Amino acid sequence: MVSNDRFRELVAHCKEYGFVFPSSEIYDGLGAVYDYGHNGVELKNNIREYWWRSMVQMHENIVGIDAAIFMHPTVWKASGHVDAFQDPLIDNRDSKKRYRADTLVEDYLARLEEKAGKEIERARKRFGDRFNEHMFRQTNERLQQLEQQMNDVRRRLQEALETNDLEGLRRLIDDCGIADPESGTRNWTEVRQFNLMFATQLGAVSGESDTIYLRPETAQGIYVNFLNVQKTSRQKIPFGIAQVGKAFRNEIVARQFIFRMREFEQMEMQFFVRPGTETEWYETWKQRRMDWHRRLGFDPDAYRFKDHLKLAHYAKAACDIEFRFPFGFKELEGIHSRGDYDLGNHQKFSGKKLQYFDPDLGSSYVPYVVETSIGLDRMVLAVLSASYAEEQVPKADAEESSSRVVLRLPSVLAPVKVAVLPLVARDGLPEAARKIFDRLKMFCRCYYEEKDTIGRRYRRQDAIGTPFALTIDQQTLSDETVTLRYRDTLHQDRISVRGVEQIIQEKLDWRQWLA
Ligand code: GAP
Repeated sequence: MVSNDRFRELVAHCKEYGFVFPSSEIYDGLGAVYDYGHNGVELKNNIREYWWRSMVQMHENIVGIDAAIFMHPTVWKASGHVDAFQDPLIDNRDSKKRYRADTLVEDYLARLEEKAGKEIERARKRFGDRFNEHMFRQTNERLQQLEQQMNDVRRRLQEALETNDLEGLRRLIDDCGIADPESGTRNWTEVRQFNLMFATQLGAVSGESDTIYLRPETAQGIYVNFLNVQKTSRQKIPFGIAQVGKAFRNEIVARQFIFRMREFEQMEMQFFVRPGTETEWYETWKQRRMDWHRRLGFDPDAYRFKDHLKLAHYAKAACDIEFRFPFGFKELEGIHSRGDYDLGNHQKFSGKKLQYFDPDLGSSYVPYVVETSIGLDRMVLAVLSASYAEEQVPKADAEESSSRVVLRLPSVLAPVKVAVLPLVARDGLPEAARKIFDRLKMFCRCYYEEKDTIGRRYRRQDAIGTPFALTIDQQTLSDETVTLRYRDTLHQDRISVRGVEQIIQEKLDWRQWLA
């Protein structure tokens, strides 16, 4: 199945099985705003818990906070967001669609990369075992032209973004011959800057001075609380502050489902270090974060690092962990070395000292910051797309159909851990199943169902990623054993109810995900 189809299937699946709904759908929705359904909220909570435990529980030098969304308006002056948190936008006069100008160029680059990849694949097939990719790259004229073209475009894009050269960006779009994907025309407007923050009023009287912003990142709530937390938690540098919370951005391009939303959740950790040690910590956190992703057990090649072409206004060094979404490799998480940019500016704008006295040095300084920042919703999408599979299964398991849609979710992330299914809804089986359900629900989220054939019930549980299903039958009444079915292998074991409890507890033990 081609990626676009696969993505459409996934979006439809999310709605059908109660993971994600368009916001206010009965009013035709609201652009790039989504609601989580009964399974989506569980998955999201579990991912949040995986992140929080890895950060806060596993590091004695990281503590959490929960800062308010509304903040003093000067925060956003000091942070640079009022002046610099903007994207270059461009409109197509025919389709009336609005795009991020830099994204149009990046998409163009991705198409060139794909072309180059195809050239290489064709040659690989032609030459078989004798194929030497390095040599081919060095000698193939067509490929060299493509590489040259890509380097040229990358250089011009970087220059235009770094120097804020909007005319240069517009010229680049013209020179690349980029057409609007919607109308197919090149009838573009000029490129303009657009601030992404949502503004609102505080209190009853409106006026300039009352304008406040919905936070575009959670990080600032951590910086303004730096001293409060350091003093009350008695942490010594290096230490980190973690936070999960909502952020808001008036995104220009509102596509790709929960990948880019206008209201979303971030999981951010700001790590405060002694100046001069930031590069070491930046490398450490890059590796730790990559390990966190890979520990989930999905294809390790679905993740890669990518250094930023254009650094955000606050960053000294920055990279993304990219994930292979159905629509290509895209940013999942950012790791940024922010220097003393934020604390330094808050110190300047507030007039309050935001310094740390380092007992080892016997002097005070404004700490440097290394930040890890991941979108919770984007992580939900990454997990769902990595887990989603359509596959053939043996008739015995399916009863009626020989294919299934399954979410191969890591068991700790699954919305429901165990389905408890009496084989038939009579002969005392529902009562016995209920008893088992009541015991298991004490330590994990279970689901009880007695309607429909067992095959259909298995299918429904596969579709939401339930890792274990227990079937209760006549034999259960006499010997207290049940059939334990594993989602991924379809393997079934006859096992005592006590044995089931032990197996499930072991499989859901956080230790194996946090180690
Ligand atoms: N505090 C740094 C910061 O906010 P960012 O790269 O702008 O950095 C960090 O955002 C992460 O937040 C991204 O890697 C992405 O996962 C998530 N994110 C950003 N904008 C988003 C949006 N509009 N919708 C969903 N997630 C978003």
